[in-house]
Amino acid sequence: MANSFEPKILAFLCNWCSYAGADLAGVSRLQYPPNIRVIRVMCSGTVSPHHLIHAFQKGADGVLVAGCHIGDCHYLKGNYMTLKRITFVEELLRFAGYDPARLHLEWISAAEGIKFAETVRAFTAEIRSMGPAPTFEATPRLALSA
Ligand code: FES
Repeated sequence: MANSFEPKILAFLCNWCSYAGADLAGVSRLQYPPNIRVIRVMCSGTVSPHHLIHAFQKGADGVLVAGCHIGDCHYLKGNYMTLKRITFVEELLRFAGYDPARLHLEWISAAEGIKFAETVRAFTAEIRSMGPAPTFEATPRLALSA
């Protein structure tokens, strides 16, 4: 049973860097697990804690947020906000009974197709080893934010 577990991973990718990195991985025909579903956002700084918690409430086993490297955000300070938010949501997840490692932040530029593929590979393997995320019903503290 555990061997048949295929994690559901939601990935928020910033349009200018990480999405382009994912695109480069695709056109370079780099192999990575098909477990991620991508949501393209204009900046990683637009991904709110609500989006992240909602993803887990709706059944994601892991959530990846990827944006431009620090100093390269096209909106100047977006990824600084991302960094603060991810730290905040990790605490929230811990409080709710989730392993905060189910949330992963990575800086991936448009030129880093290889890094994108490796990040997805490593994160998928990590989530697979953790098993399915707790259900919404099993985490009543998260229910408060529904
Ligand atoms: Fe990429 Fe802000 S535009 S992180």
